[in-house]
Formats: sequence, C-alpha cells, structure tokens
Amino acid sequence: MTQQPTPERFYLTTPIYYVNARPHLGHAYSTIVCDAIARRKRALGIETWFLTGTDEHGQKIERSAALAGRTPEEFASAISGEFRGLWDRMGLSYDDYIRTTEPRHKTAVQKLFATLRDRGFIYKGSYTGQYCVSDEAWVDVAPGAPCPDCGRITETVSEENYFFKLSAFERRLLEFYEANPEFMGPESTRREVISFVRAGLKDLSVSRTSFTWGIPVPGDEKHVVYVWLDALANYITALGWGSDDPAAQERFRKFWPANMHLIGKEISRFHCVYWPAFLMAAGIEPPRSVRANGWLLFDQGKMSKSKGNIVRAETVMEVLGADALRYFLLREIPFGQDGNFSFDALVQRYNGDLANGYGNLVSRVVNMVHKYFGGVVPETGALTASEEDLRAKAEATLAAFGPAFDALDFSEALKSLWLLVGETDGYLTANAPWKKPAERSDAEHAALQARVLATAAEAIRVITALVYPILPESAAKVWRQLGLGEIADAAQQAFLTNLAWGGLKAGTQFLEPAPLFPRAEKDATERMQNLEEANNKSAIEAAGGGGADRGSAANTGTEAVAAPITEQAARPAPAAAPAAEASVSVAPAPVASPAAPAPAAEAPAAAEEKQFISIDDFAKVELRVAQILVAERVPKADKLLRLEVDLGYEKRQILAGIAQYYEPEKLIGRKIVIVANLAPRKMRGLESNGMLLAASLEGGAPVLAGFLEEVPLGARLK
Ligand code: MSP
Repeated sequence: MTQQPTPERFYLTTPIYYVNARPHLGHAYSTIVCDAIARRKRALGIETWFLTGTDEHGQKIERSAALAGRTPEEFASAISGEFRGLWDRMGLSYDDYIRTTEPRHKTAVQKLFATLRDRGFIYKGSYTGQYCVSDEAWVDVAPGAPCPDCGRITETVSEENYFFKLSAFERRLLEFYEANPEFMGPESTRREVISFVRAGLKDLSVSRTSFTWGIPVPGDEKHVVYVWLDALANYITALGWGSDDPAAQERFRKFWPANMHLIGKEISRFHCVYWPAFLMAAGIEPPRSVRANGWLLFDQGKMSKSKGNIVRAETVMEVLGADALRYFLLREIPFGQDGNFSFDALVQRYNGDLANGYGNLVSRVVNMVHKYFGGVVPETGALTASEEDLRAKAEATLAAFGPAFDALDFSEALKSLWLLVGETDGYLTANAPWKKPAERSDAEHAALQARVLATAAEAIRVITALVYPILPESAAKVWRQLGLGEIADAAQQAFLTNLAWGGLKAGTQFLEPAPLFPRAEKDATERMQNLEEANNKSAIEAAGGGGADRGSAANTGTEAVAAPITEQAARPAPAAAPAAEASVSVAPAPVASPAAPAPAAEAPAAAEEKQFISIDDFAKVELRVAQILVAERVPKADKLLRLEVDLGYEKRQILAGIAQYYEPEKLIGRKIVIVANLAPRKMRGLESNGMLLAASLEGGAPVLAGFLEEVPLGARLK
C-alpha cells in the first residue's frame, strides 16, 4: 500500500476580543489580517481553520456590566453579538466563533485546570499584590502605583489563590524558543519575551475569589479560573480538546498544534510565555507560531476605547467599502509595526491605488474588449518585445508576491503587485490600442488591438487572482467581468497553486463592465468624520441610560461603558472652556456641557430660551462620591492636577484644572463629587477618567462640591 502524503493544514486564530468595548478598527485590523491569510491558504489548497471569538469573563467585564446596569451575561451577549455581526457584514471567512461563556469552553477549561492540578502544576497559596483590572494582570509595582503597561492605577489584592508553577518552566521555555526560532515574531517581540523569561519567572496566580464572573474552579467553586488561563484555552477548546464529542476530538487531532496565533503586541507575554507553559504542563504540544501585529494609532495614540480615539469599521465601509479598508490596513502598515490611521491617508490611497489604479485599469480594458471585440477575448497573434516584457514583469510579481505575503509582509507584497498594475497601465498607454495612426493599416491595427488587449487582460487576471485574499469582494467582481465565473469557486479549486501567465483563453466571453471603486469625492473624509461624530453623539446621549429595564442592550446599556468618543466630539463647547485642560475636568456649568457637547452651530438659538431637561436626562449623568487619595501637579501644565480618587468599588485617575486654586497636599483625603460616566479623555499624555464638580465663581475660580455629613464612597447623587 502506498503512503498518502499528509494533506497540508493550517489553523490560525485571532485574539478573542474583550466584550467591554464595541469593535473598532484596532480589532478589525487583527481579524482582517487573519482573514486574508486564511483566504490565501485555502486558495493554495491548504485545509484551513480560522477561529475568532470573544473573551467574556473577568472583573473588567463584570464591572462594565454593573456600570451599564446589566447582568454580565446580557452585557457580554450584546457585545459579542456586535463583534460577530460586524465580522459577518465585512464578509470575514472565520470557520468558528468561540465565546468563553459557551458550555463547550467552560467544561473544557475545567478539565484543563484539573489536568494541570492532577499533574502537580497547580497548588494553593496566598498572595498579596498589585492587580491591573484593565489588563487583567498581576503587576510588579508598589501599592497604589500605576500599571507599567497601561498606566491605570493598580489595586492591592490579597487573596488565597491557586498558583501555576510557572517558575518550573523558565529553562524549558528558553530551550523551546532556542529550538524553535520561528515560534515568535517579529524580532522585537522575540527579544522582549526572551528577556522577560531570562529575568526569572514567578509562579502565577490562576484563580480569583474576589468576584464571581468566571469559570468556577472544579472542586473549589468559590474560586474562578484566572481570566487569561480561561481565555488562552479557547484556542484548544474551540477545536474540541476536552470534549466528549468524537467529531470535536477529531478536529482537535487534525488541526492542533495551531500554525499561527495572531495577536496584538501588548499580549505577547501571555501568548509566548504563559500559554506554551500551560500547554507543556498539560502535556499538549505548544503552537507552532505566535505573530504580533503593531498598533493602529489614531491622533497619535493607540486606538482604544479607554483613550476615546476610536474609529469604527462601519464608517469606512459605508463610505468606501470593506475592501478599501482591507487594502489600506495591509498596504499602509508594515506588519509588526505601529501605523497611523487617518481619513485623509485612507482616501488618498483609495483614490490613488484603487480608483485610479487597479479599478481604472480594469474598466479601460474590459470596456475596450467590449468595444472592439464584442466582449470576446481575441487571439493574441504574434507577440512583440513589449508583450514579452510585460509577461516577464508579471512573472517576477508572481515570484515575489507569495513569499512576501507568506512572510506577513503584506505591504511589500501589495507594493510589488501595484508595480504590475502601473506597468500594465504603462503598457496600454505605450501601445494605445484606442488610437489608429494614419500610416497603420486596418488589419495591422486590429492585430495590435487584439495583442494588446488580450495581454493586458491576462495581466489583470494575474493581478486579480493574487489580490483576491486582500480584496475578496472586488476580485470577485473582476473575475466575473473577465468571464471566469465565481472566484470563490476558483479558490476552492486551489487556483493559486497553479497560477501562471497565460491562463486567459481566447474566446472567453466577458460580462458587462461594472463599477469597482467609484472615485471618492472631496467630501469623503468629511462624511466619515461626520459619521463618527454622529455615532459618538448618540453614544454619549445613550451613556448611563442603560438600566436593566431599558431598551436593548445593544443600544443603551452597553454604551455606558463602550461609549466611543473622538477628540472632536470630546471637545467641549467653547463656553465651557476657560482653559484647554481645565475645561474637561472642572465643569463651570457642571452637568449639561460635558454630557452632551453641542455642536457650536446649534448653540445660539437654545441660549435664548430657558431649556428644561427631563429627569431621565439628568439620570444619564452618573454623579458619585469619591475620595482623593493622591493629588499632584502635572509637569509643564500649570493649571492641571493629577488626582487619584477612590470610588469604593474602584480607583481612578482624574485630571482637573484646579492647580491655580488648590494646593495638591490639602486635597488629600477630601471627599468630592465626580461625574463617573464621562468618556475618558487624554490630556498631556495622561488619561482622565471622569470629572470633578465645582461651583464656578466670577473670574473662573472653582469651589469644589463637598458634604457636611459622612457619606460612603461611591454613593450616587440623585
Ligand atoms: N481578550 C484579550 C485577548 C485574549 S486572547 C486569548 C484582549 N482583548 S482586546 O479586545 O483588548 O484586544 C484584542 C486584540 O485587539 C489585540 O491584541 C489586538 O490584536 C487588537 N487591537 C485592539 N486595539 C488595537 C489597536 N489600536 N491596534 C491594533 N490592534 C489592536 O487583549
């Protein structure tokens, strides 16, 4: 019996997204990259499994749900549904979508925990340390100090916990990295992880008792499993590890170990240190590779909900389409590096490369084949040096594109492909099949037209096949226009395995030309900005309005924590801005202006007559009692104080423009009132999470609101 070669398989995953915030372009970026890789692998005949999903447990989600007045289940379901709905609208080709609240995951995580304990890698101990709730991570800093990764204030947590013997894996991990140089990348991630492990690994607390929103530890249910152990396990539980279902077990055998975990660079420690250690301890093979993408920056900061500088994929899709977003992200940002997102750069790339470049080339050639040959690809006839030259360039692109793409150098791959777009365009222009010089006979001209259009159409076929994983929707349209049918079917037939010059046969009947990338008008940037602002405005208006009895989770409660807000929308109306930094943290007109920053144009009429708000409007503003723990001046900002305040249920940092009126030392211990549900805002590189209330005296001097009687921290003012 002859041995069949094992078919090639590829399992790749995105990080699973936290459900405390709605999806934004940062999340879309990782998922788009995976989608492009998965599509190329499938079109190369490789059996591919592409997993994404949501990370739904932990203190962060529990608190976000509480703030929105929802149960964690309702809250998580609503946001997980938003992620999945968006991925579907974007046409992302994931094979499975795991939610960590699903029974299939929970049962398997309990099995994994029990396996680790049974194998002697988990023990019980007690621990006091600083915990960063935002990152769901223990950090090695002094009490009250901010988290070194995200800058938020850490909490001192003292608990009896289960510990994972991470320290036992120091050597094994270093040996593993050494033996598997391809395991992690890019180089910066590799270096960072190796030096982290070399610095020494401490045992890791892998259970929590101070909250309940998690997977109970088997046999000791007052503990819940540490959210990162729970989350990382998704990569095996989704395949079927720990399942009793034979089909799931088979899938696990087939696809594990994962070929690639694609992650954001900030979570490389979890994926390159903890995850392989957990797996080694459980006797499961570690993944083959982890690749970290850089950050998508907007307004110079990492795009994130907490910074309030997000842009939504929906906005770009509505104005320019999903393919434009995919192209921009993969072409503009060298994978592994941070990259700026801007509407202007997006529109420029769209018009330059897609509308005027590829789109225009396709439309010229398809139209001319219709005009001169009734839409039927002509015989090329005898070729000249000009065709040989274009063919050589196409073959060079065919040779360069794949290796660059497979090395995740999408930007370089697209650059080489767009050289071919330019060369094909140049070839057309040089041969000008639309222009018949007087000295050329009709027969000669018809021969030139046939030769040039058939050759240009072949170049378009090659370009379209290569670009399909990145522009699936547009490539499908072009494929149809070229009379080649459905590109998805071609991909299923592994059409990239034998893609070579010369595949477009004479006699192929083109379909009617159809628009691909209509030129973006001058107002495209403005339209996208307006869409974002309108979305922010409705989010701000909905913020805090989410009692359990109100509306759908997707439209109200979840907004209270997810409320995205851009720089523009966060800017208060001019009247409320005595000084740049003071305006957002001290409210001279406490309630109205920060909660609903009115566009300047709407202000004058409203100022004439007395405006009433309803009790429901007032209820949207969450005023709470807080105590100042730390107060200090912000260097180079003479009006600004940095405060750390305690709300009883959490601590936060607030920036306040009161430095000219209050000595910081005198504020410590003072109980104040803050707006607790104001969208976060960054000032002088520091994040402000809320606003304190003060009366505004003539000349702008603030007097802080306070209490004569004793009040508990966190009490709500109604
Ligand atoms: N839940 C964890 C991951 C667990 S994986 C077992 C988590 N979630 S997250 O929602 O905060 O971020 C998930 C991923 O989103 C990041 O790792 C990154 O891939 C992506 N991004 C979120 N914001 C981003 C940018 N601004 N830029 C690029 N990617 C970003 O961490």
